[in-house]
Amino acid sequence: MKRYLLLQIVILIVLFSTDFSQAGYRETFEKEFMLSPWSIAKGETSACIQCHTSDDMGPEMHEITRQWKDSWHAKNNISCHDCHGGAPEDASMSMMHQRGFKGSPQDSDIPEFCGSCHIAILDNYLKSGHGKTFCDAAEGPSCVTCHGSHNIQQANMDIINEQLCSQCHTYERAKEMKQALFIVENKLSSVEESLAHLQMLGINVDDQEKSFFRTHLEFRALFHSIDVEAVRVKSSDYTQKLEIIESKIDDSFNKLAYRRNFSAYLFLLFIGLSIVVFLLSKSYEQK
Ligand code: HEC
Ligand code: HEC
Ligand code: HEC
Ligand code: HEC
Ligand code: HEC
Repeated sequence: MKRYLLLQIVILIVLFSTDFSQAGYRETFEKEFMLSPWSIAKGETSACIQCHTSDDMGPEMHEITRQWKDSWHAKNNISCHDCHGGAPEDASMSMMHQRGFKGSPQDSDIPEFCGSCHIAILDNYLKSGHGKTFCDAAEGPSCVTCHGSHNIQQANMDIINEQLCSQCHTYERAKEMKQALFIVENKLSSVEESLAHLQMLGINVDDQEKSFFRTHLEFRALFHSIDVEAVRVKSSDYTQKLEIIESKIDDSFNKLAYRRNFSAYLFLLFIGLSIVVFLLSKSYEQK
C-alpha cells in the first residue's frame, strides 16, 4: 500500500511542477546590462547628494535633488555621477575633471549627454527633423525639452500634447503621429498583460518575452524619427510581429487548460486505482 501512495505523490509532484519559469528575461537583462556598471552599490552614500543637500546649498540645489529622487532614473539606480561623471565616493575630489566630472552640459551637448546611454534613440533623433534643426540651427527640441532633466519619468504617448508640441509648429502633425503610434501601443499593453498573467500562473514565457522585449524597444525608439509615414509602415510590421507573439500566448493558455484537465483526470484515476487496490488487498487478507 505504502509504495502505491508514494508513487502517486511522486507522479503528482512531477505533474504540477513542470514548466515553472525562472526570473523573467527583462529582469535578468536589466540586472546584467543596464544597471550594474554605472551605479555605486546600493546603500553606499553618494558625496554628491550629501553635499548638494547640505545647509550651505541654496534652494535651487535642493530642488534638483528632490526632483531626481522622484525620477524614474533614481528608481533605476541612475544617480548624479552616472550623468555628470565625477567621484561620488570621495567628497573632496568628486567634482574634479581628473575624476571624470563633466559638469552641467551645454545646451548643444545634451543629445550626446543623454544618448551615451540611450543609443538607439540618439540615432533616430539625430536623423530626424528635430535633431537636424537642433544641431544645425540651435532650434528644435532637445531631449530635455520633452523629457525634462532631473524629473524624468517613464515615457508614454501623453508627452505628445498640444501644449508642448504646438510651441514650434501646428499640433496637426503631432496628432497624426500619436494616432499612428496608438494602435501598436495598445497591442503592446495587451501582450504585456497576458505575458504577466501567464508568468503568474507559472508558465515559462521566456521566448515570447524575449521577442516581445525586442519589439517593444525597437518600437519605442521609433517616435524619435518623427517620420509619420515611416511610423505608419513600421506600425503594421510591429502589429504582425505582435500577432505572432499573441498566437503563441494563446497556445500557452490552451496547453495550460489541457494540462489542468489532464492532471485532474490522472488524479482521479489514481484515486480510483488505489481504492481498487485497497479493496483487493482487503479481500485477499480475508481469505
Ligand atoms: C563638497 C560639496 C560638493 C560635492 C561633494 C559635490 N558638489 Fe557639485 N557643486 C557643489 C557646489 C558648491 C556647486 C555650485 C558652485 C559651482 O558651480 O562650483 C556645485 C555645482 C555642481 C554642478 C553644476 C556645475 C556647472 O557646471 O554648472 C553639477 C552638475 C554638480 N555640482 C554635480 C555634482 C556631482 C555629480 C557630484 C558627485 C560626483 C558633486 N556635484 C559633488 C558642491 C559639491
Ligand atoms: C539623467 C541625467 C541626470 C542626472 C541623473 C542628474 N542630472 Fe544634473 N543635469 C542634467 C542635465 C541634462 C543638466 C543641464 C541643465 C538642464 O537642462 O536642466 C543638469 C544640470 C545640473 C546642474 C546645473 C543646474 C543649473 O541650473 O545650471 C546641477 C547643479 C546638477 N545638474 C546637479 C545634479 C545632482 C546633484 C544630481 C543628483 C541628485 C543630478 N544633477 C542628476 C542631467 C542629470
Ligand atoms: C519632441 C519630443 C521628444 C524629444 C525631442 C525626445 N523625446 Fe524621447 N520620447 C518622446 C515621446 C513622445 C516618447 C514616447 C513614445 C512612445 O510611447 O511610443 C519618448 C520615449 C523615450 C524613451 C522611452 C523609450 C524606450 O525605449 O523605453 C526614452 C528613453 C527617451 N524617449 C529618451 C530620449 C532621448 C535620450 C532624447 C534625446 C536624444 C529624446 N528622448 C528626445 C518625446 C521626445
Ligand atoms: C548613465 C546612463 C543614462 C543616462 C546618461 C541617461 N539615462 Fe535615461 N535611463 C537610463 C536607464 C538605465 C533607464 C531605466 C531603464 C529604462 O526604463 O529603459 C533610463 C530611463 C529613461 C527614461 C524612461 C524610459 C521608459 O522606460 O519609459 C527616459 C524618458 C530617459 N531615460 C530619458 C533620458 C534623458 C532625457 C537623459 C538625458 C538628460 C537620460 N535619460 C540620460 C540610463 C541613462
Ligand atoms: C522647440 C521646437 C519644437 C517642439 C517643442 C516640437 N517640435 Fe516638432 N518640429 C520642430 C521643427 C523645427 C521641425 C521641422 C523639421 C523639418 O523641417 O523637417 C519639426 C517637425 C516635426 C514633425 C515632422 C513634420 C513634417 O512635416 O514632417 C513632426 C511629426 C513633429 N515635429 C512632431 C512633434 C511632436 C509630437 C512634438 C511634441 C512631443 C514636437 N514636434 C515638438 C520643432 C519642434
